[in-house]
Amino acid sequence: MPDLFSIDEVGILQQQLSEIFEQEREEIWRETSGAVRTVFAAHRFNDAFGRLGRHPKLIGPVTLLLDGPVYMHQYKINAKAAFEGDVWQWHQDYGTWARDDEMPEPRAMNIALFLDDVTEFNGPLYLIPRTHTQGVIDAGHDRATTSYPLWSLDKDTVARLADQHSIVAPKGRAGSVLMFHSNLVHASAPNISPWDRVIVYLSLCHVDNHIRKFSRPEWIAHRDFAPIEPLENDCLLQLLNKT
Ligand code: SIN
Ligand code: MN
Repeated sequence: MPDLFSIDEVGILQQQLSEIFEQEREEIWRETSGAVRTVFAAHRFNDAFGRLGRHPKLIGPVTLLLDGPVYMHQYKINAKAAFEGDVWQWHQDYGTWARDDEMPEPRAMNIALFLDDVTEFNGPLYLIPRTHTQGVIDAGHDRATTSYPLWSLDKDTVARLADQHSIVAPKGRAGSVLMFHSNLVHASAPNISPWDRVIVYLSLCHVDNHIRKFSRPEWIAHRDFAPIEPLENDCLLQLLNKT
């Protein structure tokens, strides 16, 4: 959904990033270089990102597609910093949510907001179309390649799927939004460009389908299964009047 959020709305969120990235807290994971990789659960400690987590432009479409109320399973800001942002290996998100969190079914989706222009240069997501129809594919637990452990697919599987379905890399201006099914196979390459690529992901799950196993920290796999009540359409812009 190109340009779903305005320049002003993106600016309000962008402005918060440097302050968030400076914080030392367990929710902030760094690349081996020290650059911020992922900020988990910023909706809990930052007002603007809190509002984004209840934004009707994000909650609305997912509620429609999942056919009922949703809760926040995971919330992350992936920084993919210029020159430093590291690879995300090929994986399915639901593969992790099923194995680590015992989420019963893939009745969960990602909806992602680009906070920078995403181009062919700065590490866009790579998606293999139609792989969401394949269920959970065999994967191995990769704890070594990056600072963040992930259930990733082997090379032969990715080669077979990509031969069959090809690969797409959605690009767009800051403010654009991308939704994808939790079983869709995806990855992203390191960002060797001089441009940051910040994307915020809300992983939303139908409330009936909440996780059953609490093995990961609650700020990675949330345990508040209450339905999200969306705010007003101008909930971010209201912050402009506050300052
Ligand atoms: C993810 O797969 O969760 C993140 C990938 C990315 O932000 O590039
Ligand atoms: Mn993922």
